[in-house]
Amino acid sequence: ESMHRELEALLKTTDKAEAESSRKDFDGFKQLFHRFLRVKGPSLEWSKIKRPPEEVIQPYEKIKAKGLPDDIRTSLNKLAVVKLNGGLGTSMGCKGPKSLISVRSENTFLDLTVQQIEHLNKTFNADVPLVLMNSFNTDEDTKKILQKYKHHQVKIHSFNQSRYPRINKESLLPIAKSMALSGENSEAWYPPGHGDIYASFYNSGLLDQLISEGKEYVFVSNIDNLGATVDLHILHQLMSQPEDKRCEFIMEVTDKTRADVKGGTLIQYEDHLKLLEIAQVPKAHVDEFKSVTKFKIFNTNNLWISLPAIKRLQQNNQMDLEIIVNAKTLDGGLNVLQLETAVGAAIQSFKRAMGVNVPRSRFLPVKTTSDLLLVMSNLYSLDAGSLTMSPRREFPSTPHVKLGSSFTKVQEYLIRFENIPDLLELDHLTVSGDVTFGKNVSLKGTVIIIANHGERIDIPAGAMLENKIVSGNLRI
Ligand code: UTP
Repeated sequence: ESMHRELEALLKTTDKAEAESSRKDFDGFKQLFHRFLRVKGPSLEWSKIKRPPEEVIQPYEKIKAKGLPDDIRTSLNKLAVVKLNGGLGTSMGCKGPKSLISVRSENTFLDLTVQQIEHLNKTFNADVPLVLMNSFNTDEDTKKILQKYKHHQVKIHSFNQSRYPRINKESLLPIAKSMALSGENSEAWYPPGHGDIYASFYNSGLLDQLISEGKEYVFVSNIDNLGATVDLHILHQLMSQPEDKRCEFIMEVTDKTRADVKGGTLIQYEDHLKLLEIAQVPKAHVDEFKSVTKFKIFNTNNLWISLPAIKRLQQNNQMDLEIIVNAKTLDGGLNVLQLETAVGAAIQSFKRAMGVNVPRSRFLPVKTTSDLLLVMSNLYSLDAGSLTMSPRREFPSTPHVKLGSSFTKVQEYLIRFENIPDLLELDHLTVSGDVTFGKNVSLKGTVIIIANHGERIDIPAGAMLENKIVSGNLRI
């Protein structure tokens, strides 16, 4: 009741047009909030978790072996690509949308995405549109940039995800004083996670528009996953089934390594596939969840979803998304909650859902400057917006790179490398403290460079470090 009153009061602080669109957001928020109040205790019973039956998580090789038909263009024309573009580049020290950070040869995530899809459209004479899901944090900056793709062979659509109010952890009421985004309200709102895609896509009208244009599936992925290209074999797998037997949802999963302890995994629960995230795991089972023996795969967040199915589930209010309660402490010290959902959690609501176990190359996320170093290096080559691992690398795995806190911000990281070292034979790199790299350095095997507090280490131009530890006065 008091939540309802507060929200109504907030709506009165703005003009009519904005109030109308915010009312839709608030309707969604109220539903989520009510569910949050109702749900008590864990969302699943650990003993009911089963390994999914073999036929519901198929190896990619098996799907690939079926080959491609001559008319794959017909299937492509029924596809739209959606990139999740609600997030900012703050974790890499950048202002503005993450998708506008340069990642390779001056190209941003968004540039690479547009190039990939344009290449696809040109190669197959197809019409695959790009859809961006923006948030109130990214919409304006993204739209300005979109001008530059006007003459590319890709239609670009965008819609905005919802804007929800952060709530005070104690009172459970919004902390916003008005609908304004700035000033005293600058920390009062948040985009409620990528699970918001279903409601906001539907509410925007774009879902209906795409269906009326003959689109049947969307390929959804994180814009910071450079491995998330349109895979024709998976597309064909979806389209080749008779219409009433079609799989409504494919989640691409990949084999877990010890470095991937956090990602969600797919389980069989009662009679359906379910995404199990670490937040849902009881404390006593967390180590089991992290192990690579029991839960062997994790979600790449590359998803193939039926558009008519999204529409049906939205209309019938059947989209079942677990709530992720994200507790934060704001700059001023105030403790707040933000209620979020994840796009992959919806797998349990769709019919004939399945997983496809894809090669690791389809999961190439850039979350930190350590990831950025890899994708900027000669480990990869760039071709029509896609990165592929260099054939000159002898082992298929990527090196483990850990750059210290002096490298966290992209700006600082760039200054510290005169150019990107040769990493072709690198296995492991740890860098800590005030370290810089001259031109044409090459790093091989395991390299550890540690500058202690107050010291600086400059790796000279042309240096070749192979299985070396460099620290303090120990010189190369
Ligand atoms: P994040 O970078 O925040 O998440 O968003 P993550 O650490 O990969 O973990 P998951 O995937 O959430 O499990 C991933 C993608 O989702 C978008 C971001 O822009 C990024 O492309 N995103 C996230 C949204 O579009 N809206 C949101 O509310 C949150």
